[in-house]
Amino acid sequence: MKLALAADHGGFELKERIKAHLSGREDLEIQDLGTHSEESVDYPQYGKACAELVAAGGADRGIVFCGTGIGISIAANKVKGIRCALATNVFMAEMSRKHNNANVLALGGRVLSTEEAIAIVDVWLSTEFEGGRHQRRIDLLDC
Ligand code: RB5
Repeated sequence: MKLALAADHGGFELKERIKAHLSGREDLEIQDLGTHSEESVDYPQYGKACAELVAAGGADRGIVFCGTGIGISIAANKVKGIRCALATNVFMAEMSRKHNNANVLALGGRVLSTEEAIAIVDVWLSTEFEGGRHQRRIDLLDC
């Protein structure tokens, strides 16, 4: 799986921790779209960059990070074809895959511990979309 990561300064540290956690996985090809420091930047640019890469097929999925996960999830969801889910626990992450076929996950660096975020990411990456009636519903999102 090609996985894109992007963060603003509020999500930078958590992005780095998740990247380190995933670095040993041979099934993942990770592309880090920045930011690369804690210097203040604007989350819409990073959410858009990650979402556009996923929407264009340059990445299979993306994970975006900001302070709360809210702003960057809003930015990602502006891009057609993106279903970005803000998850604050494992259940939300699991359901975002099973029912929403979320192709981008948003996490809050000022909300989650590293351990919580790792648990969320691991479930999100390994959970499949259930399809069926949920396919009809996500099709309606693009109408
Ligand atoms: C930046 O201070 C902060 O506003 C941003 O990271 C994010 O939480 C916005 O939703």
